[in-house]
Amino acid sequence: MDYKKLVEMAYEAMENAYVPYSKFNVGAALLTKSGKVFTGCNVECASYGGTNCAERTAIFKAVSEGEKEFAAIAIVSKTMDLTFPCGICRQVMSEFEDEMDVILAKNLDYKVFKLTELLPHMFDKTSLDK
Ligand code: THU
Repeated sequence: MDYKKLVEMAYEAMENAYVPYSKFNVGAALLTKSGKVFTGCNVECASYGGTNCAERTAIFKAVSEGEKEFAAIAIVSKTMDLTFPCGICRQVMSEFEDEMDVILAKNLDYKVFKLTELLPHMFDKTSLDK
């Protein structure tokens, strides 16, 4: 799939962000290796720790539908700059695919990073066997 289309889908998902506290809308669109797309937005909670980021919403939707092989994730926010995923989301992405493309966009200009660039020396399930 064209990454521009994935970015557009992330922007659409961003419109559903539930952000009464931060007012910081984030959207994500996760592309599986089988070619399906799962979108997500951030969902906040009055007990702030209950908040779920857009990236994890998309990943958890995919896993709950039986998909665990991911090719790429596009991430956008309402800011005029690239929005890098938080540490928790990077860790959750690494659970499934450390070579996945992480596409960060502002409008339709995007940059592609490898998750290994964003989370070097990661602790993941292979670490448990060492
Ligand atoms: N947020 C995300 O959705 N993804 C990130 O990677 C960074 C932060 C959300 C969480 C919260 O709703 C708001 O942005 C402000 O932190």
